Amino acid sequence: MKLSSILAAVFLSVFTLCMPVLSQSPGHHGRKFLDTLDYDFTFAAVNTSLPNANTTGAPLVLGYSGYTHGMAIYVTSTYYTYPYNSYPSLRLVKHALRAIDSRGEWSTNATIVRSRDSLVWISSTMYPYPEDNARIFSAEGCQSSQYPILTAYNISSLWSLCPYPGFRGQTQLVFNATTAGPPPLYDPALCYPVNINIVPAERATVTVPL
Ligand SMILES: *[C@@H]1O[C@H](CO)[C@@H](O)[C@H](O)[C@H]1NC(C)=O
Ligand SMILES: *[C@@H]1O[C@H](CO)[C@@H](O)[C@H](O)[C@H]1NC(C)=O
Ligand SMILES: *[C@@H]1O[C@H](CO)[C@@H](O)[C@H](O)[C@H]1NC(C)=O
Ligand SMILES: *[C@@H]1O[C@H](CO)[C@@H](O)[C@H](O)[C@H]1NC(C)=O
Ligand SMILES: *[C@@H]1O[C@H](CO)[C@@H](O)[C@H](O)[C@H]1NC(C)=O
Repeated sequence: MKLSSILAAVFLSVFTLCMPVLSQSPGHHGRKFLDTLDYDFTFAAVNTSLPNANTTGAPLVLGYSGYTHGMAIYVTSTYYTYPYNSYPSLRLVKHALRAIDSRGEWSTNATIVRSRDSLVWISSTMYPYPEDNARIFSAEGCQSSQYPILTAYNISSLWSLCPYPGFRGQTQLVFNATTAGPPPLYDPALCYPVNINIVPAERATVTVPL
């Protein structure tokens, strides 16, 4: 292999990683986290260890997962494996993630994400839920990318996409997917690490109530 192609491969793989924006704020270890964004957005996943078709990434959507106790449960899935998008805009307000439906209504929130679990959302207009204030998410600025990326607990590097088995199994966004433990629902060997780009929504019509 020529040196120039090796350098190009190194440059490309570095390019897909987040080079943090430096911040002067104490306690951030030089990284810049935003707890609120003043625009609506969608998520797109870029591979950090595999080639990418483009720098924006593969679009993610809320994939329906079930209904229990008056709440609809959604997982975060690739649009490729769940080709419906009932929630065209997402919002980050004071470290909490909200999903806004196509009528502009908000009744869906991200929940606390745990190791080896999908990023789960719940929707209910009827019942309060202890995890409706999962204030663990931030947007981290990247020098090397036009988009900020999603963090949970200030960590951006533990997201993976994992294909779930079964009929119409969705490829889901999982946190800390490949860590040891009892067998999860997915096969960890099939997971691949991603960064989650925060891409401004095409129709960002609503201003964020803080
Ligand atoms: C994330 O970083 C901020 C700033 O350093 C800090 O105040 C906050 O406690 C951190 N959150 C977590 C969950 O570590
Ligand atoms: C990331 O890699 C997977 C597995 O090869 C592929 O299916 C997916 O399209 C890639 N993502 C992008 C944005 O190219
Ligand atoms: C980028 O690549 C992904 C994965 O192949 C694809 O799903 C997505 O539509 C592409 N996005 C653009 C803007 O071309
Ligand atoms: C979503 O979060 C808001 C604000 O915390 C809360 O009022 C609402 O009940 C939550 N909805 C669900 C379904 O958790
Ligand atoms: C990821 O999993 C490992 C092993 O279970 C655990 O020690 C670590 O705390 C987890 N990381 C986070 C951020 O939860």
